[in-house]
Amino acid sequence: MKLFFRLLKYVFNYKRHIILIVLCNILYSVFSVFSLALIVPFLSVIFGITPAVHSAPTTSFSVDSMIQWFYYYMDVVINKFGSVYALVYIAIVMIVMTFIYNLFRYLGQFFLAPIRAGVLNNIRKDIYRAFTILPLSFYSRYKKGDLLNRMGSDVQEVEWSIISSLQTFARDPLLILVYLIALFKINYQLTLITLVLLPFLGYLTTIIGRAIQKNSKSAQKLLGKLSSLYDEAIGGLKIIKGYNAIDYANRKFQQTSKEHYKINTKIFRINELGGPLIETLSIITMVFVLMIGTSLISKGEQLNGTHFVLFIVVFARMIPSAKKIVTVIYTLKKGLPSAQRIFEILDADEVIVEDPNPIAISEIKNEIVFKDLYFDYTPVASPQDCKVLKGINLRIKKGQTIALVGASGSGKSTIVDLIPRFYDPSFGSIEIDGIDIRKLKIMDLRALFGIVTQDVTLFNDTVFNNITFGKKDIPREKVIQAAKMAHADSFIMQMEHGYDTLIGDRGMNLSGGERQRISIARALLIDPEVYIFDEATSALDNESEAIIQSAINEIFQEKTAIIVAHRLTTIQNADQILFIEEGNVSESGTHQELLELKGKYYQYYAHQNLFHS
Ligand SMILES: Nc1ncnc2c1ncn2[C@@H]1O[C@H](COP(=O)(O)OP(=O)(O)OP(=O)(O)O)[C@@H](O)[C@H]1O
Ligand SMILES: [Mg+2]
Repeated sequence: MKLFFRLLKYVFNYKRHIILIVLCNILYSVFSVFSLALIVPFLSVIFGITPAVHSAPTTSFSVDSMIQWFYYYMDVVINKFGSVYALVYIAIVMIVMTFIYNLFRYLGQFFLAPIRAGVLNNIRKDIYRAFTILPLSFYSRYKKGDLLNRMGSDVQEVEWSIISSLQTFARDPLLILVYLIALFKINYQLTLITLVLLPFLGYLTTIIGRAIQKNSKSAQKLLGKLSSLYDEAIGGLKIIKGYNAIDYANRKFQQTSKEHYKINTKIFRINELGGPLIETLSIITMVFVLMIGTSLISKGEQLNGTHFVLFIVVFARMIPSAKKIVTVIYTLKKGLPSAQRIFEILDADEVIVEDPNPIAISEIKNEIVFKDLYFDYTPVASPQDCKVLKGINLRIKKGQTIALVGASGSGKSTIVDLIPRFYDPSFGSIEIDGIDIRKLKIMDLRALFGIVTQDVTLFNDTVFNNITFGKKDIPREKVIQAAKMAHADSFIMQMEHGYDTLIGDRGMNLSGGERQRISIARALLIDPEVYIFDEATSALDNESEAIIQSAINEIFQEKTAIIVAHRLTTIQNADQILFIEEGNVSESGTHQELLELKGKYYQYYAHQNLFHS
């Protein structure tokens, strides 16, 4: 239920609408009772037992006086035209009433519409926002397909189940309340009988509801798994085909899909219990009401025939509403696990949080310093448990070019990812000019860097937009200039629409090296304080790399740069080279110094020289 109330918070953003909806629904319920109540005079006319009201009642604004007015005019009509016209008179009033209550019913829906659409919209916005601010570590724990599913089918499920039930929740309980009041007014004994069965109904509803919620939870989980499989299949199609694993992949999918099928069948079956259940209970109640009502009438007290008929009619009208509420409770239970999956994302607590009083920063004056930094991708209790980075100390002076080299998996990418706070250190700190970067404004901090990541990310957009990426009002010449420096202009110009060519999903229409060059252009364009290049030219051939490198080196002369590279030829001019080994800086110095040291770097270098020469 807590979940439900959390969802309601989204609904309560629309306070004015809610007031209007409640108002419309009250009016709808009241008018619909009135229109039903017209059965009484109708029957009275037919059976010739119309109460005669010969003089106009004293005007007062109450239900009773309205009834008196109604009967007064009916009396006038009967006396003037006969009782057949009285029926016409009643029919006209009935039509007017029906029109009025349906109008309010529609208005209730009318004001609900923006809430239905708006709540979903806001949930989606919140999820997207959460996706963008969540730390990258979050994504190593969840599968991409599953996350996408939360945004897609879980939101959809919330729409179907929870949002669509708003309609019922906004109306039917009110309707039942008004009907119950009417029933009490007609005859309280009979009304009490109808309430006896309520606890049973409540009990059964709860049990069934729980079963639905439990199964639905498993169903959504499996659906997430299926999405991951889709995603993997599309991403890994070459591997699946190349390794003749089509059958294997299909079997894996079918297994999960079958589990999902079984659970879904179960949910549908349980879900359908609601209707028959409430209908049976209602009919049983109705039988009791009929029996007791008849005996009350035969005693000639408290109840007359027309009121009894009215009671039955109002009660019968209540059944569909009760049925709807029960069904909606089930649907709601079905949707709650999805809501939970959504909130799991919104609540993920290891968000990279900004300091409540963040310090602004627009440039680096002196240096970036790593102080006793330990890091692990999973939460750990002590520095000794950190397996990825183990006590890094380093100092990057403004204007220097720092190169990180070392074996694959030694922690180079992790080191550079910590600087823009893609992750926060487990222990120790990173300081810029003596200030812990966790105290800085995150936007400011990240704006200092021009990042080229190891796995290049391009977006399904034009080349131009992929280079400017969200930066507005950038003159075309500047973009072209950046592309030229990144050695990308020539291949971009060969594309069908030049800079306006769409590059397809994640830049799949481009080669690895082309993608790298676009992402280098993106970094060069913003002219940042610090360049962070993680294997930025690894996909290029030696010749292109050398050309880009010389262009970049010129820029790096004035800027601070942190480069990760496997190919040592690209970093020989660096002011400082750090050799990273299993999460530690094992050697540091200039190229020359490290060669003279004849340590790991020297071996590494000798090895590469052998291969390249
Ligand atoms: N998102 C992640 N979640 C968990 N562990 C990770 C994650 N990314 C990297 N690792 C682990 O952290 C260690 C360091 O990885 P890192 O990517 O920093 O290495 P690297 O030096 O950049 O290697 P390469 O030269 O292959 O790019 C590795 O053991 C790797 O398995
Ligand atoms: Mg790496």
